[in-house]
Amino acid sequence: MMPSLQLCVVIPTFNEAGNVAVLVERLSHVLQGLVWELVFVDDDSKDGTAGVLQAIALCDSRVRVIRRVGRRGLSSACIEGMLASPAPYLAVMDADLQHDENCLPLMFQALNEGFDLAVGTRYMAGGGTGDWSAQRLNISKAATSLTQKLLNIELNDPMSGFFMIRRQVLDDAVYRLSSIGFKILVDLVASSPKPLRVKEIPFQFGLRVAGESKLDSRVAWDFLMLLADKTIGRFLPVRLISFAAVGAMGVGVHLLVLGLCKSWLALPFVQAQTMAVLVAMVFNFYLNNVLTYRDQQLHGSRWLWGLLKFMVACGLGGAANVGVAHYLYGNDGMWVVSGLAGILVGVIWNYGVTSILVWPQRRKAS
Ligand code: GDD
Ligand code: MN
Repeated sequence: MMPSLQLCVVIPTFNEAGNVAVLVERLSHVLQGLVWELVFVDDDSKDGTAGVLQAIALCDSRVRVIRRVGRRGLSSACIEGMLASPAPYLAVMDADLQHDENCLPLMFQALNEGFDLAVGTRYMAGGGTGDWSAQRLNISKAATSLTQKLLNIELNDPMSGFFMIRRQVLDDAVYRLSSIGFKILVDLVASSPKPLRVKEIPFQFGLRVAGESKLDSRVAWDFLMLLADKTIGRFLPVRLISFAAVGAMGVGVHLLVLGLCKSWLALPFVQAQTMAVLVAMVFNFYLNNVLTYRDQQLHGSRWLWGLLKFMVACGLGGAANVGVAHYLYGNDGMWVVSGLAGILVGVIWNYGVTSILVWPQRRKAS
């Protein structure tokens, strides 16, 4: 009989064609003596990563590739990769050789000793962040302490993307996972119904040789949304929070354009206001597409079509807003209350309708 599978290493990839072959070779070496498999989850990289992986997988059935199309997201990739394997121990690691594969046997041993979670940690004796700039280090540390306080997580390095869990940890957390953004470990720990026995293993974050980091300012937004979801998400859907935050910025844009059109271009009020509405709508659509719906962003002709639908939907939302406000004002005469009620109805309408028409859900996390 074949010995049964012990470990699955899930590796999310986005444009890592230059790294994956070396990684597979290093992992085969370091995992000798275990029964393992690798599950790569590729978000349709344009540099041919999936092709390179498929060529490897053809010759080695321990290597599998999940290719997701029209999707993005590190956390959701990791979750889907873990769910695709029956292995009792599940590890997550980056594809870019920045995570020290020599930690994997230590993590495996920790789980064998009874720990639920073993984390590759940069922030403890023996660990480190390699060539990070002072700025990235500061941001990382600030985000770390915010997470520790807000979510009551005691890990030294909750932002680490390198860890191993027992499959039970995933099964217990899976329905509560937010699967937003980059921070899969934070998500897992914060979604676990009971405290986990954790072993931290220090490692030096390596240099990236091929390809580039996908960490950008949108990752920071995703991170804030993850924190929001894990704190107030029980009461409000996090996408609605994001949509409303974008809407609030849109009000600023509206007023700016209105002011400019009136004072600089000397347009009559109605034309200036119309201009402001149009610009604010495009602004809101653009930001919602890159922030609120980053995981299912529209591009090219779909972008244009989406913009059209967005403007029609929000136009109707505007009408509903005015209608409700007008009705209430007629009853109670309190303009602030009536105005705010109109805005609330408008936001909920716009959010609801655009989430169905413009960015229809192609997946459900829970
Ligand atoms: N499938 C998929 N989809 N993979 C992705 C995506 C995505 O949208 N974005 C990034 N990846 C893959 C990359 O190809 C790489 O294998 C891994 O996820 C990490 O991405 P990097 O772009 O290299 O991230 P980093 O090095 O800046 O950040 C790492 O360190 C952080 C610690 O500060 C990651 O491990 C983070 O998870 C970690 O928090
Ligand atoms: Mn990296």
